[in-house]
Amino acid sequence: MIYFDNAATSLYKPAHVKRAVMDAMEKYTANPGRSGHIKSMEVAEKIYDTREAVKEFFNGSNHEVIFTKNCTEALNLAILGLLKSGDHVIASCYEHNSVLRVLEHLKSIGVEVSIISSDLYEFADNLEREIKENTKMVICTMVSNVTGEYSNSEKIGEICKLYKLIYLADGAQASGHMLVDLKKSNIDMFAFAGHKGLLSITGVGGLMVKNGIELNPLMFGGTGTDSENLIQPKAIPEGYESGTIPSIPIISLGAGIEYINKNFLKIIEKEEDLSKYLYYSLKKLNFLTIYSKCDTKNVVSFNMKNIDSSYLADVLNEKYSICVRAGLHCAPLIHKKLKTTKTGAVRVSIDFNNEYLEIDKLVLALKTIYSSLT
Ligand code: ALA
Repeated sequence: MIYFDNAATSLYKPAHVKRAVMDAMEKYTANPGRSGHIKSMEVAEKIYDTREAVKEFFNGSNHEVIFTKNCTEALNLAILGLLKSGDHVIASCYEHNSVLRVLEHLKSIGVEVSIISSDLYEFADNLEREIKENTKMVICTMVSNVTGEYSNSEKIGEICKLYKLIYLADGAQASGHMLVDLKKSNIDMFAFAGHKGLLSITGVGGLMVKNGIELNPLMFGGTGTDSENLIQPKAIPEGYESGTIPSIPIISLGAGIEYINKNFLKIIEKEEDLSKYLYYSLKKLNFLTIYSKCDTKNVVSFNMKNIDSSYLADVLNEKYSICVRAGLHCAPLIHKKLKTTKTGAVRVSIDFNNEYLEIDKLVLALKTIYSSLT
């Protein structure tokens, strides 16, 4: 089996993460932040350590971390928590449905939405001309889950700072794969998933919110604080984490970050090399249309002449045990730009666990499939 679906989730978790999960199952199964007894406090301390590790990893010392169940929930909280009728928001056409569908919903309550259709890196160059009197927020993914293109986050941050706009960056595909620096890029809110590049088990993501930003909560309920008050507290994080939080996934995220911190340079170097190797290996096949660029971050998407992407992905899976993702990848507007709405595309997404030989096997499989069809 060859796993090339790391943009959906990382399959291989380091032994360090697995051990942390088993250890947590033994020692950290009490409910943190509620009771004051020793077992509750032990878990609370592990959760606190993970929050601090997240802040340090993304250089977000001016931010607080709200844990969510995934990146989608974090994006929903950031967008629905901030925008109200009459506000204007600017987003890129590379956004995932976890942004686009929220914005579509907000249109119905009077939020104005502008979508910039340039290539992702040039989003920053086209931003200023879209800003209006009522613009409140700018949303841009750091790395596209369809093409592997990346945004110019520093320039977006500079513009947002100048015009006093809230910059929300979707870090789903960037986290753990490249250096993300919230301070340097002036990012106000940053959404991430644990289970992709940060190597945690599923069940945890997060939203980092710069101090001073006020959000309306998505969810109401017990926080373990201020219990006599029927009004939801707005303290971050507890006001935004109502209900029992997923302690074990959060602890696994802490372990994932520890692992990455120890191996970050090696991970980035290997992923850059593999990305180039993948891109140039596929580019040589003249029966493919490639939608990614040569400096892609871990993703190459393509179509084979006259073949539906889902069919090709099925053949790769069934005959060659190669796992890829086809279709629209929940990002319909970038597929519209690529003119692949009807066919979708086949997406190969690597991480540092992949090997050059696996890419060679993919190339061979594609050649064999193509020659059997012509
Ligand atoms: N958004 C994830 C992907 O691109 C699930 O596959």
